[in-house]
Amino acid sequence: MPSLSVTNDELATFLDTSDEWITERTGIRARRLLSTETLYDLAEEAAKKAIKSSGLTADQLDFIICSNVANRYITPGMNCILQEKIGATCAGLDINVACAGFVNALMLADSMIQAGRAKHILIVCAEEPSKYCNWKERDTSILFADGAGAVVVDAGDGFKAVHLSMISSKDVLYYERCMEETPYERNRKEGQPLVMRGRELFRMAVSQSTKDIRTVLEKAGMQPSDITYYLMHQANKRIIESIRTLLDEPEEKFPTNIENYGNTSSASIPILLDEMLAAEKIHKGDTLLMSAFGAGFVSAVCILEWGK
Ligand code: ACO
Repeated sequence: MPSLSVTNDELATFLDTSDEWITERTGIRARRLLSTETLYDLAEEAAKKAIKSSGLTADQLDFIICSNVANRYITPGMNCILQEKIGATCAGLDINVACAGFVNALMLADSMIQAGRAKHILIVCAEEPSKYCNWKERDTSILFADGAGAVVVDAGDGFKAVHLSMISSKDVLYYERCMEETPYERNRKEGQPLVMRGRELFRMAVSQSTKDIRTVLEKAGMQPSDITYYLMHQANKRIIESIRTLLDEPEEKFPTNIENYGNTSSASIPILLDEMLAAEKIHKGDTLLMSAFGAGFVSAVCILEWGK
């Protein structure tokens, strides 16, 4: 995580908002924002910690998958930048499935391992949405935050089921960047910071995530009560609470850390996973359901049995 923590009160010194409003509507009390570090520093640290905890060395990795919406370099991919920093020699790719990137990366990693194309895959989700929010407006800047999380995936039968869905709906959440001028284009458009239709997104997130969770449970032949923990994308505590109520599951099965970190896009689930492991809350054989939604509109849910 970035070292700088910014509270709601601190935001209220330059935005027309309040601690009470942000806490009530989102559950966020503080967020970590990049100031002195770069996103590549966070990605490197997360990747190295994941490799260390896997018991492997970087040269044993067969592939790197990075999930990222936007970073300073459009090209080369973040996986290339990271390869050198962590001392790996394998190839990799970047994916951009917005906040649903981690579950999509797990699905890709599992597919590659099942197909015999790789044995050990590093997944790094690293996001810096603070760099594409409009800091003169209160709509997105109070929600989004920076962070990175990583895992190493290896062979096993722990990946029980996955379900991905997509409803093409660009206008609910988008960030439009400015491309270079050419001598031939007549209607060149300037870029603009992140645009979000919050209420609409809230409704889509609750209904689609709940539907997809039910679908993935059915695919796995499980009931909601079979899940040990629901690791939900940390976008808004009220969204998580609405989904929990619809599933009629107890609060303790839905851990959150949005209070301290805000919405770190695709990094939010691996960061939560890391915290749960550090607190020794996840044990071998636990069944974890991971659910995330984001710009697209996309939603991705998987169920896995924790193996170590
Ligand atoms: N501070 C103070 N007041 C505010 C703020 C703010 N930051 N933002 C809006 N308001 C005001 C509005 O102007 C409005 O005032 P009015 O009643 O006088 O018109 C009132 O608060 C309510 O505004 P709503 O937009 O209806 O508030 P809502 O309860 O919907 O909460 C929020 C807004 C938090 C954005 C919510 O809609 C939400 O969380 N939506 C989903 C957002 C999300 O998940 N985004 C990420 C998804 S994907 C990804 O993670 C990349």
